[in-house]
Amino acid sequence: MSRSAHPAGPRYGDVHTEGHYSPPPADLNTLDDKIWSRTVGRDEDGVATVAGLPVTRLAEEFGTPAYFLDEADFRARCRAWTDAFGKDADVFYAGKAFLSRAVVHWLKEEGLNLDVCSGGELATALDAGMPPERIALHGNNKSVHEIERAVSAGVGRIVLDSFQEMVRVAHIAQSLGRVQPVQIRVTVGVEAHTHEFIATAHEDQKFGIALADGQAAEAVRRALKLDGIELIGIHSHIGSQIFDMAGFEVSARRVVGLLAEIRDEHGVELPEIDLGGGLGIAYTPEDDPREPHDIAKSLTAIVTRECESAGLRTPRISVEPGRAIVGPTAFTLYEVGTIKPLEGLRTYVSVDGGMSDNIRTALYDAEYSVALVSRRSDAEPMLSRVVGKHCESGDIVVRDAFLPADLAPGDLIAVPATGAYCRSMASNYNHALRPPVVAVKDGSARVIVRRETEEDLLRLDVG
Ligand code: LLP
Repeated sequence: MSRSAHPAGPRYGDVHTEGHYSPPPADLNTLDDKIWSRTVGRDEDGVATVAGLPVTRLAEEFGTPAYFLDEADFRARCRAWTDAFGKDADVFYAGKAFLSRAVVHWLKEEGLNLDVCSGGELATALDAGMPPERIALHGNNKSVHEIERAVSAGVGRIVLDSFQEMVRVAHIAQSLGRVQPVQIRVTVGVEAHTHEFIATAHEDQKFGIALADGQAAEAVRRALKLDGIELIGIHSHIGSQIFDMAGFEVSARRVVGLLAEIRDEHGVELPEIDLGGGLGIAYTPEDDPREPHDIAKSLTAIVTRECESAGLRTPRISVEPGRAIVGPTAFTLYEVGTIKPLEGLRTYVSVDGGMSDNIRTALYDAEYSVALVSRRSDAEPMLSRVVGKHCESGDIVVRDAFLPADLAPGDLIAVPATGAYCRSMASNYNHALRPPVVAVKDGSARVIVRRETEEDLLRLDVG
């Protein structure tokens, strides 16, 4: 296999017509531990390893593309969140980021709760034995069937998203002879600094019940009157991939403000508040995420202070991190195929996956990093765009990145921080087969979600 440089490919410092990228790192071989999972390193041959396993061996055994999930890192992050919030708070892992039976087992063992937002996620949680009282059901349009399933399983809480749903849940619970604990999801009117499609607390969007125009107070009034439900708290989620704590602080303050109004109007002090998920992670070296203990400290301080000044007992706080737990724990391993240098622009590096295993770049302009992992290279940095094999020019995995100029077909490259919202948003576009998720730990690897096969695809095609 040729390892020769591509003479027409641009080098750092050349003129480019578009793109925003940071200068190349001093050494392209460095795997920055801010972006890569905790057990990633390089062995003496320059091959990247995870949990002590060389990626070349992993590629041989499991094929590419594939997601490799660092179980020790996942568990450590779970513990960091539960330790940070302590025993007077609850951490709900947001299953939408990535859910499988193995993940449910880890959550169970590490003492976390689980937020599910669909019948499928609920089924996975129950199948893997998550105690129902540790499950919360979310969603802006839960079906009657999903609600029935959740209520009869005895989930710990259903987060109500509308007036209609409140009546529906109350009715279903009554007909099943249950009283279902519920929270009301409010929109607090905070503009989160993130992509429009993943910001959720401004008013002009589909989630929750607005605080500002008195709708949330009205929802509380109705909830307190309905049989079949028990209102236990208020929920707010302001968006995703957020670094700035200010939005969470405003949100916490407004939620506590509502608790005080409820106390004044009804003489009831609701015992819980949930401040949602949304904490950002590092996809590139420029990203600077907050640590769980920092987040816990500032949120707890705000809630305690606001409650004290309103004369309220401090409610039990819960949070719902998804990305911040699973995001940094996995990378996607690809094999390099066609390499196309475009004079004066950049070099297009095609991999054997693409938007079917990572839609985030196309959908949110997400930024990712990438590295050559099957060997070390001291070649010059080459401005590259990592693209997939789909029939679409927007099929970009990493928009702007530097890879060594001697990159060649057959090399393995890896994109870190793909644990969240990559496998869970993967598709069969162009009849792509969704990649496996392989959990790695202490020198061993096991498939936790297997690779799709053509038989899987054809099994659904019953025409
Ligand atoms: N709680 C609720 C009610 C949510 O809606 C979400 C995410 C979370 C918690 C977890 O948020 P996290 O901690 O993972 O940011 N597909 C998008 C993200 C959508 C987030 C939807 N809700 C992405 O790939 O960026």
